[in-house]
Amino acid sequence: MDEIPKAKHDHGPLKFPEHFLWGTATSAHQVEGNNTNSDWWEWEQRKPLDKQSGKAADEYNRYDEDFEIAKSLSLNSQRISIEWARIEPVEGQFDQSAIDHYKLVLKSLKAKHFKVMLTLWHFTLPKWIADIGGWENAQTTDYFLRFIERVVPEFDDYVDFWVTLNEPGVYAFMSYLQGFWPPQKKSRWAALRVQWNLAKAHQKAYKLLKMQSRHPVGIAQNMQSFHSSHKHSIIELASVYVSDIITNHAFYKLTGYDTHDFLGINYYFHHRFNRRDKFLPTVEDAREQHRDISDLGWEVFPEGIYDVLMDISNHKPIYITECGIASTNDDRRTRFLIQYLSEVFRAVESGVRVKGFFYWSLIDNFEWDKGFDPRFGLVAIDYKDQQRTVRASAYVYSEIAKHNQMPHSLLRLLGHTVRVEEVLCYMHDKPKALCQHFNT
Ligand code: FCB
Repeated sequence: MDEIPKAKHDHGPLKFPEHFLWGTATSAHQVEGNNTNSDWWEWEQRKPLDKQSGKAADEYNRYDEDFEIAKSLSLNSQRISIEWARIEPVEGQFDQSAIDHYKLVLKSLKAKHFKVMLTLWHFTLPKWIADIGGWENAQTTDYFLRFIERVVPEFDDYVDFWVTLNEPGVYAFMSYLQGFWPPQKKSRWAALRVQWNLAKAHQKAYKLLKMQSRHPVGIAQNMQSFHSSHKHSIIELASVYVSDIITNHAFYKLTGYDTHDFLGINYYFHHRFNRRDKFLPTVEDAREQHRDISDLGWEVFPEGIYDVLMDISNHKPIYITECGIASTNDDRRTRFLIQYLSEVFRAVESGVRVKGFFYWSLIDNFEWDKGFDPRFGLVAIDYKDQQRTVRASAYVYSEIAKHNQMPHSLLRLLGHTVRVEEVLCYMHDKPKALCQHFNT
């Protein structure tokens, strides 16, 4: 008879797999500033000043300084994106100076020994593409392929992973179904078309990239965790099932898993369906229920990342291409990191091939239609003078990255309200002055 494995009673550190990638993610439009030839820029001009990206974090000029900070935090990888609107501001006219700029950016990363994940499209389009219908127009795929064909040979030496598209489903939803983002359509048909065209674009881009580069290719997919409030409610359970298929799996079904060398997962959302006294269930409002939420009202639900990882796990390597919290309270970011990373660890222990984690974001950023208020950064930006200040939570993340493990002692802090100073005292390199306050 097979021996029943004994339950572990392990109080050691949570050791992540060897060569685990510890990084942060940004996207060009959200940090660079002055992305004047894009559809988003044009759209923002009709918005109040605080909803315009303007100079953003001036990353276009300050990338080296920021990568230096990331390096000093012992991170070993970075995910960034390039801006199509800068490289091809006019149809068919590629701007060599923009290409050269991005080469410098990538070289700066490589000089600091980062593994580089490069996103080719992260929500923004050149204005001229938007004018011909953007991703609603199937022709956009041809232009996207031409763009890829032009840039990949220029950048391939400095890139380790290619991400063709960022969150195609979120884009279709926000821009074409809900109408929150440009071009602000509210049409199911347009959203479906966009989703379809993006799937075709990825398939073709994958093929092309495989001819041009030997580096792995994937997408960054927004995966969401769904639950029912009542297990006995078949209708709630059906809603969970349908939402999971549409949100998490449809794009992979449309493109086929064989066009993904790895699975890139952005995790932010957890939803509970509740029927109450109606026939069709609705999603509960985390705020009303007094659940733990971020400054954007998004529920903090660490188990959700375990849930989506277990759900998507197949034989492919998985990278958490984004995960982070908008909070002006850095203690909460610290707690978030400890909680979410321990859930990622749990998934690894359960056999999921997670190979890296990119916190969103390295620096505070322009959060699309929400403007500059949400603070996601490990590094704070003062938008008055572009001053960078490393937040204490960054040091917690840094300690975990440096040792590729989470000290078990951190987990015991989860039971009560975590203060980042206290957390730092539990780490390896204790800042002495700080730790006098605590009995450690
Ligand atoms: C993701 C986007 C990213 C950022 C984070 C908070 O959905 O990919 O650009 O806005 O949310």
